[in-house]
Formats: sequence, C-alpha cells, structure tokens
Amino acid sequence: MLMLGAAMLCAPVLAAQASGDKPAAAQAKDAAPSGFVGGEVCATCHEEVSKGFANNPHTKMALMHGNAAGVTCENCHGAGQAHVDGGGDATKIFDPAKASPKDVDAKCLSCHAGAHPNFERAPHAKAGVSCIGCHSIHAKGDREDLLKAAQPTLCYQCHTDVKPSFDMPFHHKVNEGLVKCSDCHDPHGTFGNNNLRSTADQNMICTKCHTEVRGPFVYEHAAVKAEGCMACHTPHGSQNARLLNMPNINTLCNQCHSPVSAGTVHGMNAGSAELQPCINCHTMIHGSNIDPYFKR
Ligand code: HEC
Ligand code: HEC
Ligand code: HEC
Ligand code: HEC
Ligand code: HEC
Ligand code: HEC
Ligand code: HEC
Ligand code: HEC
Ligand code: HEC
Ligand code: HEC
Repeated sequence: MLMLGAAMLCAPVLAAQASGDKPAAAQAKDAAPSGFVGGEVCATCHEEVSKGFANNPHTKMALMHGNAAGVTCENCHGAGQAHVDGGGDATKIFDPAKASPKDVDAKCLSCHAGAHPNFERAPHAKAGVSCIGCHSIHAKGDREDLLKAAQPTLCYQCHTDVKPSFDMPFHHKVNEGLVKCSDCHDPHGTFGNNNLRSTADQNMICTKCHTEVRGPFVYEHAAVKAEGCMACHTPHGSQNARLLNMPNINTLCNQCHSPVSAGTVHGMNAGSAELQPCINCHTMIHGSNIDPYFKR
C-alpha cells in the first residue's frame, strides 16, 4: 500500500518518462500537477531544510523513479505555487506544525495507511497525539524511523507514570535497551486494548520471545490458555521475582485453587501451604507433556 501510494503520486512523472527522453528533472517539472513547483524551487529559499532533506527516507519517493528533484516537498506541504508567488506567504502553504492533529494524520496516512490502518481509532489519535507527536520529519541526525527521540525516552516524555515500574527490582530490560516498548505495544494502534500488538493468540505478545512456555502441551494449564499471561504476571516490572503479580506464590495459586489453601496442602502436614511453595512440586506451571498435575 505504501509503495502504491508513492507510485500513484509519481504516476505523472512515470507517464512523462515514457513519453520522451528529456532529463529527469525537466520531465518532473513538465509533469508536475498544476500548482506544484518542484523541490528545487523550494530549495532556493529554504536552503537549510532542503540540504538536510537529502538523506531523508522520503527522498526515496523521488529517487525511486530517477527523479531526484521532484515534487517531494509538496507531497506533504501541498502545492507550493501560491506560496512562492506570494514571496513565501505562510498562509498559502500547509504547515503541519500549525495544522490540527487530524489534518496532519490525514496527510501522512494518505501514504502510510496501509501499514497503520488502526491509527485513527486508537488511543493516541483519540487523545490528539498526531504522527508528529512522535515523529519529526526535518530534525537533524541519523534517527531510526525519524523518531523525535529513541525509545524509551520518547515514550517516557508523556508516560511518566509507567517509568517507575521499569526501575523495580524485577523488570523487562527496557531502559537497558534489551526490550522495547514497541515489542509489546504498537503506538500506531491495534485491535486490542492498551495498544497491545494483537494476534489470534493474545499470549503471542509474550510467547514470541518466551517460546519455551508457548506450548501446545498435552496437559494445558487452563489459567494460561484462558486468562493469559497477565493472570499471574505483570508486564512492566514488579517487586516480585519472575514478574509475578503477587508476593506469595501460594496466595497467587489459591486465588483460583482455594480448596487447597483451606487446610493443608493435599492433606500433608498442617502449615505446609506456607512452608512449601506450590511450584516446588508443580514445577511445569505453564503446562506439561508428561504430567496432568504439572509435576516434574
Ligand atoms: C514527509 C512529509 C514532509 C516532507 C516530504 C517535507 N516536509 Fe517540511 N515539514 C513537515 C512537517 C511534519 C513539518 C512540521 C515540523 C516538524 O514536525 O518537523 C514541516 C515543516 C517545514 C518547514 C517549517 C519549519 C522549519 O523547519 O523551518 C519548512 C520550511 C519545510 N517543512 C520545508 C520543506 C521542504 C523545503 C521540503 C522538501 C525539501 C519539505 N519540507 C519536505 C513534513 C514534510
Ligand atoms: C520565494 C522564497 C520561497 C520559496 C520559493 C518557498 N518558500 Fe516557503 N517560506 C518562505 C518564507 C519567507 C517563509 C516564512 C514565512 C513567515 O514566517 O512568515 C516560508 C515559510 C514556509 C513554511 C512554514 C510556514 C509557516 O507556517 O510558518 C513552509 C512549510 C514552507 N515555507 C514550505 C515551502 C515549500 C514546500 C516550498 C516549495 C514548494 C517553499 N516553501 C518555497 C519563502 C519561500
Ligand atoms: C506514540 C508515538 C507514535 C505516533 C503517534 C506515531 N508513530 Fe510512527 N513510529 C513510532 C515508533 C516508536 C516507531 C518504531 C517502532 C515501530 O515500528 O513501531 C514508528 C515507526 C513508524 C514507521 C516506520 C516503520 C513502520 O512501522 O512502518 C512509519 C512509516 C511510521 N511510524 C509512520 C507513522 C505515521 C504515518 C503516524 C501517524 C498516522 C505515526 N507513525 C504516528 C511511534 C509513533
Ligand atoms: C507521498 C507519500 C508520503 C507521505 C505524504 C508521507 N510519507 Fe512517510 N514515507 C513515504 C515513503 C515512500 C517512505 C520510504 C519508505 C521506505 O523507505 O521504504 C516513507 C518513510 C517514512 C518513515 C520511515 C522512515 C525510516 O526510517 O524508514 C516514517 C517514520 C514516515 N515516513 C513518517 C511520515 C509522516 C509522519 C508523514 C506525515 C508528516 C509522512 N511520512 C508522509 C511516503 C510518504
Ligand atoms: C506526545 C505524548 C505521547 C507520546 C510521545 C507517547 N504517548 Fe502513549 N499516549 C499518550 C496519550 C495522551 C494517550 C491517551 C491517554 C492515556 O491513556 O494515557 C496515550 C496512550 C497510550 C497507550 C494506551 C493506554 C491505554 O490506557 O489504553 C499506550 C499503551 C501508549 N500510549 C504507549 C506509548 C508508547 C509505547 C510510546 C512510545 C513509543 C508512547 N505511548 C508515546 C501520549 C503519548
Ligand atoms: C513485555 C511487554 C511490554 C513492554 C516491554 C511494555 N509494555 Fe506497556 N503494557 C503491556 C501490557 C501487557 C499491558 C496491559 C496491562 C494489563 O492488562 O494489566 C501494558 C499496559 C501499558 C499502559 C496502560 C496501562 C498502564 O500501566 O498505565 C501504558 C501506558 C503502557 N503499557 C506503556 C508502556 C511504555 C511507555 C513502555 C516502554 C517504556 C511499555 N509499556 C513497555 C506490555 C508491555
Ligand atoms: C522482545 C522479547 C520479549 C517479549 C515480547 C516479552 N519478554 Fe519477557 N523477557 C524477555 C527477556 C529478554 C527477559 C529476561 C532478560 C531480563 O530482563 O533479565 C524476560 C524476562 C521475563 C520474565 C522473568 C523471567 C525470569 O527468569 O525472571 C517473565 C516472567 C517474563 N519475561 C514474562 C513476560 C510476559 C508475561 C510477556 C508478555 C506481556 C513478556 N515477557 C514479553 C523478553 C521478552
Ligand atoms: C497460573 C499462573 C501463571 C500464568 C498464567 C503464567 N505464568 Fe509464567 N510463571 C508462573 C510462575 C509461578 C512462575 C515461576 C516459576 C518458578 O519460579 O519456578 C513463572 C515463570 C515464568 C517465566 C520464567 C522462566 C520459567 O519458565 O520459569 C517466564 C518467562 C514466564 N513465566 C512467562 C510466562 C508467559 C509468557 C505466560 C503466558 C503465556 C505465563 N508465564 C503465564 C505462573 C504463571
Ligand atoms: C486464574 C486462575 C488460576 C490460577 C491463578 C492458577 N490456576 Fe491452576 N488451574 C486453573 C484452572 C481453571 C484449572 C483447570 C481446572 C479443571 O480443569 O478443573 C487449573 C488446573 C491446575 C492443575 C491441574 C489439576 C487439575 O485439576 O486439572 C494444577 C496442578 C494447578 N492448576 C496448579 C496451579 C498452581 C500451582 C498455581 C499457582 C502457580 C495455579 N494453578 C494458579 C486456574 C488457575
Ligand atoms: C509437596 C508437593 C506438593 C505441593 C507443595 C503442592 N502440591 Fe498440588 N499436588 C501434588 C500432587 C502429588 C498432586 C497429585 C495428586 C494425585 O496424583 O492424585 C497434586 C495435585 C494438585 C491439584 C489437582 C488435584 C486437586 O487436589 O485438586 C491441584 C489443583 C493442586 N495440586 C494445586 C496445588 C496448589 C495450589 C498448591 C500450593 C498451595 C499445591 N498444589 C502444592 C503435590 C503438591
């Protein structure tokens, strides 16, 4: 879809190329839709911005078709003739920094909707965070994905509330660069809650990395399959080892297996529920191919 979007914009250029063999830049000018002046005209007044744009991935839009000085700038800023004729009249050019989030998104999505179809109905767009809340097209430096800042710094700028969890004794190593926010979330929106990357098997968010607990097992633990990983774990960080969502494992298990806690552990000596964690015996807690009770 992305390539299609770019190809459509370049269609007039391609047509021009087919119809003659003038130099590419001249063809682009001839072929440019009315009101478009071409990037080389913008460069006469916006030298800095234009120079900086040479390495921008968006330059590929033009380069892909052998047209280095095509209408690249105007793909985002709209036709520039009136702006130029007005000697740089700022009211006659689309400036994303001053436009509404919806208008910015619409402009970007005119090419990127294929890869990010859920954006408008997801929390960021709904809260008025547009594409340029996270991306900066013209900022300098070699930035991955044209991000304003690298993850997780980018995300913490707004989500200060989740930062403390990643400083807890047990946490996914996001600050250390081992895991990214976007491994689990798609900031561009998904069908799931919390911008969680979604698949038919919701546990895949986790099991794509933790393959050893994925199964399928001959004896599944219904808790894992039905409730998901979050029934027992917390995703960001925890005071408890193994990112468990409760400090005491037996209390965790007995939320669902209360008969076990009622007296002793399976009739063994009184108090052993406290003394012996359930997982001492039920070690294969995510499921087993050998034992219906998940014992070793
Ligand atoms: C992919 C979309 C896109 C393309 C292509 C693009 N721009 Fe921009 N431009 C933006 C956005 C978004 C802003 C708003 C500021 C920001 O977020 O970086 C902006 C801001 C500007 C500004 C005002 C702010 C400043 O930095 O001075 C100028 C001038 C400008 N662009 C010129 C150009 C020129 C010239 C080109 C072609 C070489 C170009 N733009 C290509 C998206 C684009
Ligand atoms: C004749 C010189 C000239 C040319 C050519 C020119 N600009 Fe500008 N442009 C200016 C000036 C001057 C300003 C600053 C206007 C202001 O701040 O009031 C400006 C401002 C802008 C802005 C920011 C508007 C804002 O809201 O502050 C954008 C975006 C922009 N130009 C894009 C372009 C693009 C894209 C092209 C090519 C299609 C282009 N310009 C061609 C002179 C020019
Ligand atoms: C809340 C922050 C945020 C917002 C808002 C956002 N992005 Fe992104 N974008 C990212 C991050 C982080 C990455 C890199 C990780 C990834 O691939 O998701 C990225 C990657 C991309 C990429 C390159 C990789 C890919 O997935 O295609 C494109 C293109 C992109 N974004 C376009 C957009 C567009 C268009 C919008 C607005 C409709 C937008 N983004 C809004 C954070 C954001
Ligand atoms: C005219 C079509 C078009 C428009 C409009 C457009 N883009 Fe792009 N964008 C592209 C193309 C083509 C690429 C290069 C894809 C590639 O490298 O495979 C690209 C690449 C990107 C990337 C990936 C950069 C990387 O490092 O790979 C991001 C992020 C992005 N665009 C964001 C935006 C945002 C934000 C806007 C709106 C301000 C926008 N784009 C508007 C066509 C467009
Ligand atoms: C410019 C500010 C801003 C940036 C940057 C930003 N977000 Fe957000 N994010 C918001 C706002 C505002 C909301 C909607 C209100 C809320 O739920 O907090 C939101 C919502 C979310 C949600 C959904 C929360 C829910 O309750 O459904 C997730 C997940 C999220 N953001 C993750 C990220 C990630 C990951 C990044 C970095 C790639 C990021 N955000 C960058 C402002 C931002
Ligand atoms: C290992 C996967 C994973 C990583 C990495 C991750 N998240 Fe989350 N995040 C989740 C899950 C799962 C939820 C839903 C929690 C729930 O259902 O109880 C969530 C919930 C959220 C929420 C909404 C609820 C809340 O706690 O406020 C926000 C905002 C959020 N994450 C932001 C981030 C940011 C920002 C980062 C990176 C700094 C990040 N997440 C990294 C998995 C992850
Ligand atoms: C991008 C890969 C990735 C994803 C996705 C991921 N994890 Fe992790 N997880 C790791 C890595 C790497 C470690 C161990 C390294 C470290 O942080 O010390 C880890 C550690 C853990 C631990 C602690 C293990 C221990 O030995 O103490 C638990 C529990 C865990 N993850 C659960 C989850 C859950 C639940 C999800 C889904 C919400 C998830 N993980 C998603 C990579 C991932
Ligand atoms: C019924 C509760 C429960 C559910 C549901 C659950 N876990 Fe666990 N998980 C545990 C317990 C308890 C431990 C600690 C085991 C130990 O310390 O021996 C653990 C440990 C882990 C570990 C550390 C390595 C290991 O195998 O001991 C990872 C990684 C992990 N879980 C990932 C996941 C993922 C991914 C999911 C979802 C597919 C999930 N867990 C669902 C209870 C659960
Ligand atoms: C969210 C609820 C939930 C949690 C928490 C939970 N389980 Fe389960 N567990 C179940 C369900 C539901 C079954 C299937 C029961 C059935 O089929 O009758 C099950 C089955 C079992 C079985 C197999 C025996 C049987 O009756 O099929 C064992 C053993 C077991 N769980 C141990 C544990 C242990 C140990 C923990 C703590 C690490 C734990 N469970 C945490 C819900 C849970
Ligand atoms: C000393 C080892 C041991 C400990 C500790 C232990 N179990 Fe068991 N558990 C067993 C054995 C052995 C069986 C299988 C009994 C059988 O084969 O009939 C079993 C069976 C079960 C069953 C299925 C049968 C039933 O009684 O419902 C559940 C559920 C269960 N255990 C949960 C737990 C929970 C929850 C804890 C922690 C509070 C726990 N177990 C602690 C050894 C233990």
